Amino acid sequence: VKATSPLTALSLSSHRLLSLGLCRALSKTPAALVLNQTQHCKQLEGLVSAQVQLCRSNLELMRTIVHAAREVMKACRRAFADMRWNCSSIELAPNYLLDLERGTRESAFVYALSAAAISHAIARACTSGDLPGCSCGPVPGEPPGPGNRWGGCADNLSYGLLMGAKFSDAPMKVKKTGSQANKLMRLHNSEVGRQALRASLEVKCKCHGVSGSCSIRTCWKGLQELRDVAADLKTRYLSATKVVHRPMGTRKHLVPKDLDIRPVKDSELVYLQSSPDFCMKNEKVGSHGTQDRQCNKTSNGSDSCDLMCCGRGYNPYTDRVVERCHCKYHWCCYVTCRKCERIVERYVCK
Ligand SMILES: *[C@@H]1O[C@H](CO)[C@@H](O)[C@H](O)[C@H]1NC(C)=O
Ligand SMILES: *[C@@H]1O[C@H](CO)[C@@H](O)[C@H](O)[C@H]1NC(C)=O
Ligand SMILES: *[C@@H]1O[C@H](CO)[C@@H](O)[C@H](O)[C@H]1NC(C)=O
Ligand SMILES: *[C@@H]1O[C@H](CO)[C@@H](O)[C@H](O)[C@H]1NC(C)=O
Ligand SMILES: *[C@@H]1O[C@H](CO)[C@@H](O)[C@H](O)[C@H]1NC(C)=O
Repeated sequence: VKATSPLTALSLSSHRLLSLGLCRALSKTPAALVLNQTQHCKQLEGLVSAQVQLCRSNLELMRTIVHAAREVMKACRRAFADMRWNCSSIELAPNYLLDLERGTRESAFVYALSAAAISHAIARACTSGDLPGCSCGPVPGEPPGPGNRWGGCADNLSYGLLMGAKFSDAPMKVKKTGSQANKLMRLHNSEVGRQALRASLEVKCKCHGVSGSCSIRTCWKGLQELRDVAADLKTRYLSATKVVHRPMGTRKHLVPKDLDIRPVKDSELVYLQSSPDFCMKNEKVGSHGTQDRQCNKTSNGSDSCDLMCCGRGYNPYTDRVVERCHCKYHWCCYVTCRKCERIVERYVCK
């Protein structure tokens, strides 16, 4: 395989990551993968047949989806940098999946984020003209506000949601594999992810007019960055609802485990199994433990040394930080800075 293919630069881990959000699909994908002919879709091991068909009929879409995998990794890491569980097991997939393969709160988050990311990437690709099947989103029906006019290229959210759901949800719709409860959980959480994406659509504007006077503003509807959607989903993760698979009427549904009789809300993430506290390393439950994790001595949040280290204590070490300093503005128009070194004390969990 030639090193010039558009996908060669992708790390193996992003294929693995994608696999995770999508039931291990793509997990054995070769690192140097060429995706410019339909028969290459067969090389993407672990895809269910509906996904292979989508790949064959739309290779550009598939490239966008693989790109989304990388974005999931970044956004997940960022959202959970201050937590004991920090997304790192995503990279170890498919060999280290227990925290994510079981129906835990963490897997709820990852499925929701993966679904949001795929639809996000597709909607954005429509805007940048990377996909032959779609173009800019619709011009909004409501007036744009005083001094504004609609213009630019809106993200085609409806196309993103449609095609993203087709791909993301395909494995959960295959009859034979996996428990029904897990599939329902994943489908529900993927839908929550797409709902969070919908909620992130906002009006964005650009100024025009003589010498930046901004007398006219052109506006369009664009999606927030994936990291903002991830932050929203993290809030939902923190208040996720434990559910059980129970008969309600003629069929079995996921219903909240505690005794308040109400259906699951469309906006809430749900999980079936409690997670470990992630304090100690225990591969059997998918916990890496927090030994050697950096903690923050002055914070009183989840990254505080108390919480992060689970009361085991922590070790200080010194770190050298180089930063720009004594910056001076020169007329006209540049800035010069010096480099300063600073010694900072940091802490890692025992
Ligand atoms: C697909 O990519 C390979 C490797 O870059 C190249 O040799 C081949 O000509 C390409 N095929 C098509 C149909 O573009
Ligand atoms: C995207 O939005 C446009 C409206 O501008 C709409 O007509 C179209 O059906 C949407 N989907 C695609 C695939 O372009
Ligand atoms: C995430 O946690 C793992 C396991 O504790 C650790 O090895 C890794 O360095 C952490 N990653 C970051 C970016 O803190
Ligand atoms: C530690 O937490 C404090 C308070 O939340 C914050 O101001 C500071 O930037 C944090 N330090 C680091 C190294 O993250
Ligand atoms: C952290 O401590 C400060 C000062 O004691 C307090 O105002 C703040 O609400 C605390 N934050 C959290 C998350 O507990």
